Amino acid sequence: MQVIASIFDMQSTAENLRSKDRLIGLVPTMGALHEGHLSLIRLAKERADTVIVSVFVNPTQFGPSEDYTNYPRDLGRDLDLCEKAGADLVFTPAVEEMYPKGFSTYVSEELISKPLCGISRPAHFRGVTTVVAKLFNIVRPDLAVFGQKDAQQIAVIKKMVNDLHFCVDIVTAPTVREPDGLAMSSRNRYLTATQRGEALVISQALHKAKEMVESGVHNTDRLIAEATHLMGNRRRVRVIYASIVDRCTMEAVREVLPGKAMMAIAAWVDEVRLIDNILL
Ligand code: PAJ
Repeated sequence: MQVIASIFDMQSTAENLRSKDRLIGLVPTMGALHEGHLSLIRLAKERADTVIVSVFVNPTQFGPSEDYTNYPRDLGRDLDLCEKAGADLVFTPAVEEMYPKGFSTYVSEELISKPLCGISRPAHFRGVTTVVAKLFNIVRPDLAVFGQKDAQQIAVIKKMVNDLHFCVDIVTAPTVREPDGLAMSSRNRYLTATQRGEALVISQALHKAKEMVESGVHNTDRLIAEATHLMGNRRRVRVIYASIVDRCTMEAVREVLPGKAMMAIAAWVDEVRLIDNILL
């Protein structure tokens, strides 16, 4: 497995792969890899000839009071996991090269990025679309794999790809969960045992809503009330939003239409911000 840090080297290596007609799959990550990330690498491996994983903690997607500085970083471990999962190349650019002094061009999706996480993290998706556009331009992958865990992120990236005519297929991988249901996340490692126990209520609330839909409840006010009530019973959990939205536009819906709706939750567990979602 090759490791490349320089943007120029990454561009020329990718160019060389393209000239040999190798189908390139990209898996963008911020490192601190877990089984969720590894499932993306394995899926990319099934669909592409060469799998490139980027590991880059992207400063522009963190708000001023967020965890950019403390975000877990362990490149040695990440490289090991990438290799075991079947990655061919890991791209680890430096912040100074991705965002040199004077950097002033951003990519901003203005519709789908506004609700849900866009309300409490107003600059977040601009940071995501900017870095993903840069990675797409550097690697020029044939396909890129993203996780359903960050459903709004996928919807925003698909819209950017469509609006800006990027020639890349966006592949969605299902959310990988711990055996008890907690969605895997790099931020789970911030949780103490007590907090982790309380965090479980997020996936429980989502599963409860899905059960209710399956038993015939389609009114979203009722579903949201039940989920909010469940989470309200946990002392350390503060709900940021619990919404039922259209899977593509992220706009709130009043009735669950099968195959179209998704419930998304963001919550603080003490000072740790977690998100999760379920297709209804
Ligand atoms: P990061 O949080 O590291 O996630 C990288 C990819 O892994 C994303 O596509 C995310 O949806 C996916 N992922 C995370 N947890 C998952 C889980 N439990 N199951 C399945 N997939 C999971 O998302 C980002 O980084 C960044 O915003 C990035 C796209 C890299 C841009 O900086």
